Amino acid sequence: MSLTSNIRNFSIIAHIDHGKSTLADRMLEITGTIEKRRMREQFLDQMDLERERGITIKMQPVRMEYHTENSASINILNLIDTPGHIDFSYEVSRAIKAVEGAVLLVDATQGVQAQTIAVLDLAREAGLTIIPAINKIDLSLARVKETKEEITELLGEGHGPILEISGKTGEGVKELLDEIVRRVPAPKPEFPETNGFRGLVFDFEYSAHRGVVVFFRVLDGEIKEGDDISFSALGEKFTVLEVGVFMPEKKIATKLSAGEIGYAVTGIKRPIQAAVGDTLIRTHVKLPAVSGYQFPRPVVWASLYPEEQDDFVLLRQALERLRLSDSSLSFEEESSGALGRGFRVGFFGMLHMEIVSERLKREFNLSLVVTTPTIGYEVTKNGKAEIIYNPVFFPDDKSAELLREPWIEVRVITPPEHLGNLMTLFHEHEAIVKTMEIFGESRNEIMLEMPLRELMRNFFDDIKSATSGYASISYKMLDLRVADVVRMDILVGGEPIAALARIVPRNRIPIEAERVVDRLKKLLPRQMFDFKIQAQAVGRIIASHSISGMKKQLGDFGKNGGDITRKMKLWAKQKKGKEKMKATGRVNIPEDVFLKMMRRDD
Ligand code: GTP
Repeated sequence: MSLTSNIRNFSIIAHIDHGKSTLADRMLEITGTIEKRRMREQFLDQMDLERERGITIKMQPVRMEYHTENSASINILNLIDTPGHIDFSYEVSRAIKAVEGAVLLVDATQGVQAQTIAVLDLAREAGLTIIPAINKIDLSLARVKETKEEITELLGEGHGPILEISGKTGEGVKELLDEIVRRVPAPKPEFPETNGFRGLVFDFEYSAHRGVVVFFRVLDGEIKEGDDISFSALGEKFTVLEVGVFMPEKKIATKLSAGEIGYAVTGIKRPIQAAVGDTLIRTHVKLPAVSGYQFPRPVVWASLYPEEQDDFVLLRQALERLRLSDSSLSFEEESSGALGRGFRVGFFGMLHMEIVSERLKREFNLSLVVTTPTIGYEVTKNGKAEIIYNPVFFPDDKSAELLREPWIEVRVITPPEHLGNLMTLFHEHEAIVKTMEIFGESRNEIMLEMPLRELMRNFFDDIKSATSGYASISYKMLDLRVADVVRMDILVGGEPIAALARIVPRNRIPIEAERVVDRLKKLLPRQMFDFKIQAQAVGRIIASHSISGMKKQLGDFGKNGGDITRKMKLWAKQKKGKEKMKATGRVNIPEDVFLKMMRRDD
């Protein structure tokens, strides 16, 4: 029997909300990893933010020990829980490279959804053994038979049994664990005889007094305290201060061997550019690095500025720390006249952006201004192509030779009764329908191509409301295509506000101009003087709204016999003051106005 034969490494993959975290809770319970009295819902979602929103942002590895019915030996089950939201699909792609099997979980009341197919594609590409399971069978609305047919259609022949479980009641979860032990292959080291070591990095954490903690899967050999280890791509070296496993809290181990999943404390306290997908090797026994993970490419950018310029260094440190545990985050320094020094930050989507802003505030106590998010456009000027993320640097209309923008492929799965509404919506969002097929017994699968900017224009929410939440979506990046877009500047009191500049399609200039001016009008507090809110594009003002200055309440002079001359005097004084402010006045834009402008539907 090889040393790895009782280890099973697996992940749970699913569409958002199909119940991964709840199923993980039951597994922790059944295997006795967490005592019942310590159990709380979504145990592996450790951030407050995750619990509040009921979503998994950060995956959390866990090691469980499990006896199968008819075997005396203990099996080690390493589970990597993964996030379901599309913005975090990069985390899913990392997780599945460190495991041999995946439980494909499908909610019996929802059936197969778009993200189910997207994550299944990733798992298949990685060559994982797939164990299909239908979840939430305790619900009266469960459509077990239909869901089974959909999964069969998806997986084709020879996929093994489809299990029926309830993460809530625990029904069928033990059988699922048995199936994992039976079907997921044990890890197979590539270099079984080596005295070297190879570990595949899938995550990081930063601890103030112990420095960088690296999470990895041991591929070959073993690792223990005192070993000299290198990140092979990065070239950074360290001496291991501690190794251990996830119970799910960290538990010190004497060593970690091939097939195991664990952590090592590096003691590195400077910010390093280590990336997920790098291979750890023993410094003096150079085994070949594993071909890395795909480098994460941000989809949307926004600028983050500290409200207090003194916090700039703090913001940089905070972003560097966050990047250690969120390698999908990328950023570079920039400065803006109005806002001072800040960072242009790349995100995976709007939810990712919200989460990062929220974490910076909560975990680092920072007050931030977050600018309107934008995607990157390729601008060719004087024969030179450059990607521009910041609307402020976008060229004036017609001054570029070529403008191109990213396009995406979108998969929509929907019941047929919503097709009419959806077609109208696709048209409004410039989507081209490529194929439309019947999926399962009674649903349609539609493949679209559309500009990424149109996805950012509330496409997800629009689809949800057009189909009462019955349609699901996933997407992936395609290529760059010619774009007809222009820069729109927003002027407040005659002054362009850099943080509010945006890029809009030419055919939506008037609509967008009205919309922005209208929203800003509702959000901006009145000032002591009159001022205008304007939207400017293609060299002219497209929409404008005047806001009149405040009059101070001077009391009811009429009724109580107040002195009318005093009232007149005060008015005159106020008028004079207002004129003075009009000459020198700058409109004060509170931070929450920027944040509210970022969201479309407030
Ligand atoms: P993300 O982490 O956001 O991707 O979600 P998830 O897939 O981890 O789903 P989660 O476990 O948070 O479950 C989503 C919702 O479904 C929660 O309200 C759960 O209580 C509920 N749920 C999960 N499993 C079951 C089940 O077997 N039966 C019933 N009735 N509800 C379930």
